[in-house]
Amino acid sequence: MSDKKSSQLRDYEIPIGDSYKLDARKKLGSGAFGDIYLGANFKYNEDVAIKLEPTHTKHPQLFYESKLYMALQGGIGIPKLYWCGSQGNYNILIIDLLGHSLEDLFTYCKRKYSLLTTLMLVDQMLSRIEFIHSRNFIHRDVKPDNFLMGRGTKKHQVYAIDFGLAKRYRDPRTGLHIPYKDGKSLTGTARYASINTHLGIEQARRDDIEALGYILVYFMKGNLPWQGLKARNIKEKYEKIKEKKISTSLDTLCQGLPDEFKRFIQYARDLKFEDRPDYSYLKNIIRQICEKNQLNFNYNKYDWILKKEQAYEEQKEQKEQREKMQKENKNNKNNDSNEDKKKNSEDSNKKNNDQEDN
Ligand SMILES: Nc1ncnc2c1ncn2[C@@H]1O[C@H](COP(=O)(O)OP(=O)(O)O)[C@@H](O)[C@H]1O
Ligand SMILES: [Mg+2]
Repeated sequence: MSDKKSSQLRDYEIPIGDSYKLDARKKLGSGAFGDIYLGANFKYNEDVAIKLEPTHTKHPQLFYESKLYMALQGGIGIPKLYWCGSQGNYNILIIDLLGHSLEDLFTYCKRKYSLLTTLMLVDQMLSRIEFIHSRNFIHRDVKPDNFLMGRGTKKHQVYAIDFGLAKRYRDPRTGLHIPYKDGKSLTGTARYASINTHLGIEQARRDDIEALGYILVYFMKGNLPWQGLKARNIKEKYEKIKEKKISTSLDTLCQGLPDEFKRFIQYARDLKFEDRPDYSYLKNIIRQICEKNQLNFNYNKYDWILKKEQAYEEQKEQKEQREKMQKENKNNKNNDSNEDKKKNSEDSNKKNNDQEDN
């Protein structure tokens, strides 16, 4: 790096490669394998996200993840990959800076999404998954934390991230599907894992879709029946989640929700190992729910946007009220002091008159 650049750096900034700097004050997130920081490009001062992984980690995966980003470049809702390399004790991946995750926004929205927001999100998540599948990969960790909203002109768009657990499910040249296998340990996140994943069966496209089905319910209800189960260790916990998932009927799981939710999950569960999910069929289910409930997609109406607007309006109203009260107080004071002045001048006139009388 040139001296010119290093002299431009502030004490909390760390140069990365030739073109980037990391802002050590601004951690964007920390995952199972490392941390993500805010960074910027020297030349254009454009913001980026910088994912770090210690080089001596037991199971390095960042370079693998960078390969996935390469394979997926150009897709809608896939962050751009800028740079990947090693520096000091870290493997480093630099991608587009994005907005909040769907999990963070869920918490911001008091852990419930409206039907419209749920459908607008799941529809886009389905498109991302379809695209990843079209490039011969399955994600294998479909969950709200791994889908982020964009920023600026892309703030209405859902992005897919975190490809550390993704896997190629078919040969890009021959189209040959990976073989069926069982006895596998759970890869991904137990809460959203498909029943077959719990049963140790090799994951395929169908399992990404089933996870999305559980997310539909999670977004609407705020939780899933297999959350918060008590267990002594992680193995027992996974076992309990599996049992609860198997024993909960779809009627119970989807109680109070549009019937189509059941159809979505049932469809995913009925898929065979090598089946290509019918993404259009699933999108149609989403469209039908919209029609039945007289909802229209409108990306200015995400719950968090409405909530922010509402908070803004409330603040504005409070401010106006405060100002009005201050004005009234001032007027009252002025009136009081005018009265006082009037009284004072009357007194002094009287005094003067008295004096003159003397
Ligand atoms: N490009 C990005 N822009 C903004 N925040 C990000 C970005 N990438 C990751 N994050 C934040 O960091 C968290 C962890 O990132 P992720 O890539 O999922 O790591 P892990 O593999 O450890 O889960 C995300 O859930 C998100 O909150
Ligand atoms: Mg993640």
